[in-house]
Amino acid sequence: MAAPGAPIPAVVTAARFPPLLRPVTTRRSRAWAAASRPTWRLLAAQYAAAGACFAGEDDVVLEETEHGRVVFTTRALVSAAELDSLCSAVGWPRRPAAKVCAALENSFLVAALVEESSGSASAPPLRELVGLARATSDGAFEATLWDVLVSPRLQRRGLGRALVQQTMRLLLARGLSVSLFADPAALAFWEQLGFVQEPGGLRGLFFRPPQRQQSIALKL
Ligand SMILES: CC(C)(COP(=O)(O)OP(=O)(O)OC[C@H]1O[C@@H](n2cnc3c(N)ncnc32)[C@H](O)[C@@H]1OP(=O)(O)O)[C@@H](O)C(=O)NCCC(=O)NCCS
Repeated sequence: MAAPGAPIPAVVTAARFPPLLRPVTTRRSRAWAAASRPTWRLLAAQYAAAGACFAGEDDVVLEETEHGRVVFTTRALVSAAELDSLCSAVGWPRRPAAKVCAALENSFLVAALVEESSGSASAPPLRELVGLARATSDGAFEATLWDVLVSPRLQRRGLGRALVQQTMRLLLARGLSVSLFADPAALAFWEQLGFVQEPGGLRGLFFRPPQRQQSIALKL
């Protein structure tokens, strides 16, 4: 797949930010997580997986404003509830939380856009998930993008492009070919990023069993 065309308009920062949710780090919290909440175990597993693959990656500041900034990070602990809320905001249907959790845990890469502000006398500090892209991969040849979205209140200011470019930078650096299944309404967005439809005559086929709603994508 072709690399993104435009340069990445981002300032790389050495600063490291805490994850969206507190990681399981202390003996007490690890014990608590192991014994009680399956969600925390999944988040801890996701954090460990992301840390293993992308441990050396710095966060990238994509936008700085008077009140805060939007940061691209691969080390945020995104919960199913946060992703579900973002999906609802762009009008996507809700999915079972346990499945969303498993999808996050099993993804090769979960890249998040996080809006941060230090707060003021009148407003509390903010740390909110405002965008996401995740990739599944065999880790050797292919990666496929899923759940690429930006909060409606921050769309059309270049964040979607930067999110995909940063995600592509990480995947291409690992020698992976990248594909995705595009919403027809967003084709222009992908094409201006260098993606092409059906390169070399390839066709995407979807298996649709008559008794099931779920489909399995077959890439030839
Ligand atoms: C698609 C999406 C991620 C784009 O995010 P964004 O932050 O608005 O995108 P950007 O501001 O970086 O736009 C980059 C370019 O793509 C264009 N673009 C953005 N969204 C587009 C869309 N839905 N359709 C066509 N072109 C689009 C913009 O016009 C811009 O081009 P320009 O710089 O020449 O004006 C965002 O609209 C979104 O979350 N949509 C809902 C979820 C979705 O459809 N995801 C894609 C699934 S395949």
